[in-house]
Amino acid sequence: MAIHSILKMGDPRLLRAVRPVTTFDTDVLRQLVVDMYDTMRAAHGAGLAAPQIGVDLQVVVFGSDEPNPRYPDRPLVPATVLINPVITPIGSDEELDWEGCLSVPGLRGRVPRWSRIRYAGFDLQGRPIERTAEGFHARVVQHECDHLAGILYPMRMRDFTQFGFTEVLFPGMVPDQDD
Ligand code: NI
Repeated sequence: MAIHSILKMGDPRLLRAVRPVTTFDTDVLRQLVVDMYDTMRAAHGAGLAAPQIGVDLQVVVFGSDEPNPRYPDRPLVPATVLINPVITPIGSDEELDWEGCLSVPGLRGRVPRWSRIRYAGFDLQGRPIERTAEGFHARVVQHECDHLAGILYPMRMRDFTQFGFTEVLFPGMVPDQDD
């Protein structure tokens, strides 16, 4: 188990389009995923992408199989390792909601995302994953997969009046809130 430090916005490694995984079910890949989960949980994140710990591979982890007691109303997103993902919007509806990012600490912004998506990719063993998602689940997947293309959420924003420091926007919110 290893908890890695998370790269912050300004680091050019967060702006790269990273390469697909070509060999599955290896010790190196397994260890990467364990480290990403440990790092995500230690930072109270909702998801993490490999470039955030400096690894230039198309690997993201997100979700949890246990509800977060601080956010009992938040829909549960299944704990998922998603490799070489492809996202396809279903319809053209978008929705705006608040996002944060472990690479953009202390800030929140309202980001437009597709309301409904289909996403496909592979698990650690190379077995295909294909799901549809909406709402928060769809948002998390779009946010994490953007990291693989070198896109951070502020680059998706259209209204910077809705961008600011968490402690100012949401006074009283617990400081180690999910990102
Ligand atoms: Ni992020």
